Amino acid sequence: MNDAFHRKINYLRISVTDRCNLRCVYCMPEEGVELINHEEILSLEEIIRVINSAVMAGIRKIRFTGGEPLVRKGISSLIERVNDIPEIDDIALTTNGILLPIMAAELRKAGLRRVNISLDTLVPEKFRRITRGGRLSDAWLGVETALEAGFDPVKINTVVIRGFNEEEVYDFAELTTKMPLNVRFIELMPIGVSDLRDRKSFVSTTELIKILQNRHELVPEKVAGNGPAKSYRIPGAMGTIGFISPISNHFCADCNRLRLTAEGQLRPCLQSPQEIDLKTPLREGASPEQLADVIRFAISSKPEKHNMEQAGWAGNRRWMTQIGG
Ligand code: GTP
Ligand code: 5AD
Ligand code: SF4
Repeated sequence: MNDAFHRKINYLRISVTDRCNLRCVYCMPEEGVELINHEEILSLEEIIRVINSAVMAGIRKIRFTGGEPLVRKGISSLIERVNDIPEIDDIALTTNGILLPIMAAELRKAGLRRVNISLDTLVPEKFRRITRGGRLSDAWLGVETALEAGFDPVKINTVVIRGFNEEEVYDFAELTTKMPLNVRFIELMPIGVSDLRDRKSFVSTTELIKILQNRHELVPEKVAGNGPAKSYRIPGAMGTIGFISPISNHFCADCNRLRLTAEGQLRPCLQSPQEIDLKTPLREGASPEQLADVIRFAISSKPEKHNMEQAGWAGNRRWMTQIGG
């Protein structure tokens, strides 16, 4: 259905857990975040009920996020069940890739066709630092397994942070010449980004494109997806390069999405703290149509746009691991 700003909302991002097997510095604080009790998290059965009602409200595309969605028990069977809902025409997953080597085959079998893998650096020591202890070789094996398993497209999400990885952008770009990856550079958003919560860490897409164009020609290219990335190809390259510019290019006018937290709260906008309680009606036995009405209400409550530039860098206190990106 359309929201109050004539945007067609057909994409639901579902966070299936707040847990993660990494602890990225921009995503959660050092001490971690207080984990939600198991009973507070929606069951797989409840998630299916939400999706069936979301379909009634016009949702056609589902993305599973976390925390890390692959640490949620039963994620493959959930995907398999969503794959059986005829109205859903795209199922995707955003992961850190660590568990792909052991799970890629079962996920493919369950009907998952594509994955986005978060990877901010190609240097093992820096990977350890940004993830607070993770091993690059594990994530990289995840990328290779995703390609071998036939996921298509395989996208890499790279949040660009000045002083951390901006000098690696050529290495990331060159990956696409040798491998059929869609590497997407993401502007750092001021959401719970701890010591990076400083405007100085921010690199704009315009600056990045200039840096890349010093070495490469970038030809616009279409890549399958439902998100705001703009993609290009280095002529002759196997893969593509994308840019996600939430700060410099307000893509909110084309926003198509709604979020569901692991606790069953609908979030009309990534940035806004507004949440609409879906769990209570779910647990009080609401009918599919009643749940669809709550979802429609959340869609109609979507704000026109975020105001991160004004509000964000000063003191946003929520963490991405709790929202799911
Ligand atoms: P596809 O294009 O369908 O592959 O997916 P996507 O780009 O929507 O999903 P993904 O989870 O890979 O998101 C990539 C990044 O885009 C996220 O990490 C966020 O940084 C950013 N992003 C995604 N959705 C939103 C949104 O609604 N608002 C803003 N401001 N940023 C978003
Ligand atoms: N700014 C931009 N992107 C972020 N992500 C997490 N935190 C931020 C942030 N502050 C990205 C991750 C992951 C996706 C779900 O969200 O890199 O790819
Ligand atoms: Fe949509 Fe809010 Fe993201 Fe803008 S910031 S694209 S309105 S969810």
